[in-house]
Amino acid sequence: MLGDKKVLFSGMQATGNLTLGNYIGALKNWLTLQDEFETFYCVVDLHSITVRQDPAELRSRARKLLTLYIAAGLDPEKNCIYYQSHVSGHAELSWILNCFTYMGELNRMTQFKDKAAKHADNINAGLFTYPVLMAADILLYQADVVPVGKDQLQHLEITRDIAQRFNAIYGDVFTIPEPYIGKTGAKIMSLQDPEKKMSKSDENPNASIYLMDDKDTIIRKFKRAVTDSEANIAYNDEQKGIHNLIDIYSVCTGKTPDEVVSEFAGKGYGDFKLAVGESVADMLAPMQARFAELEKDKAYIDSVIKNNAEKANYFAQKTLRKVQKKVGFPEKIR
Ligand code: TYM
Repeated sequence: MLGDKKVLFSGMQATGNLTLGNYIGALKNWLTLQDEFETFYCVVDLHSITVRQDPAELRSRARKLLTLYIAAGLDPEKNCIYYQSHVSGHAELSWILNCFTYMGELNRMTQFKDKAAKHADNINAGLFTYPVLMAADILLYQADVVPVGKDQLQHLEITRDIAQRFNAIYGDVFTIPEPYIGKTGAKIMSLQDPEKKMSKSDENPNASIYLMDDKDTIIRKFKRAVTDSEANIAYNDEQKGIHNLIDIYSVCTGKTPDEVVSEFAGKGYGDFKLAVGESVADMLAPMQARFAELEKDKAYIDSVIKNNAEKANYFAQKTLRKVQKKVGFPEKIR
């Protein structure tokens, strides 16, 4: 708790182009939670270097992502929006938590296995301990709630295990966080292969809607979306492509999947795909316009970066000092 509010922490990586999956699975939920919680929304640039990055590009993407948080509707006066690399406590706590995490636990992480297979020439220790840094992010702010898509649930589970293990030894140091998963859209699938999640690292640009895609591109990608030959708009696990499109349309319009099915009863896939494309383009348009304006306002974005990093550092240091004392590090002489 911070004051009378519970604490929420979440973050995104500044790698690749953000997709509709990131928006629906995470960012959209963040917007609805900003009044209820004391929130920390981080651009997790430390995580990004587990895969090789071009330095100038990483810097530029990180700034764009931070700007996008604001453009999407997160008010930086109410939400602490900052870069992970500006708060050294993340890396410091991560080291300590590494000493409370087992190799066997990390070996079970499916994201590690996937990424190690994809980057076989660079299976570095950071990629392996990635979930420990994520645990440090969350525990540093004593977060009660962590809104994420389904793909991050395993990382949340290990965060809870590490926190419980630490608390069992040293007393109640960390709040045990709960995941928050949206009702619909917790896993948006690729438009080209509905068995796979929509991912910013997908090499096929038609598989993902990028948050900066214009209306024509969005509609074209939905027209090409892989469906099936049933010619029936129904919400079931066999018609995975249509299921995914119903989920997307349902999130964009606020209708339930059943309402979507009745709306399109007897209509063809072509009509439905066009409607989905239009609803996505309409949902993203205000954010895209605001982003273009904000990007020009360098002084404003700089002030958000500076002020919020100070705020984040203040809270991070509180937890860090407590943890350092518990594990037995000597107090600093001031
Ligand atoms: P990242 O950057 O891969 O994704 C950011 C958020 O978007 C969600 N997401 C999706 N949701 C639904 N459908 C999809 N296709 C889809 N693709 C991505 C993710 O679940 C995530 O919520 N390790 C994290 C970043 C992170 C973090 C944290 C998150 C670092 N520290 C602490 C929460 C708390 C990641 O790589 O997310």
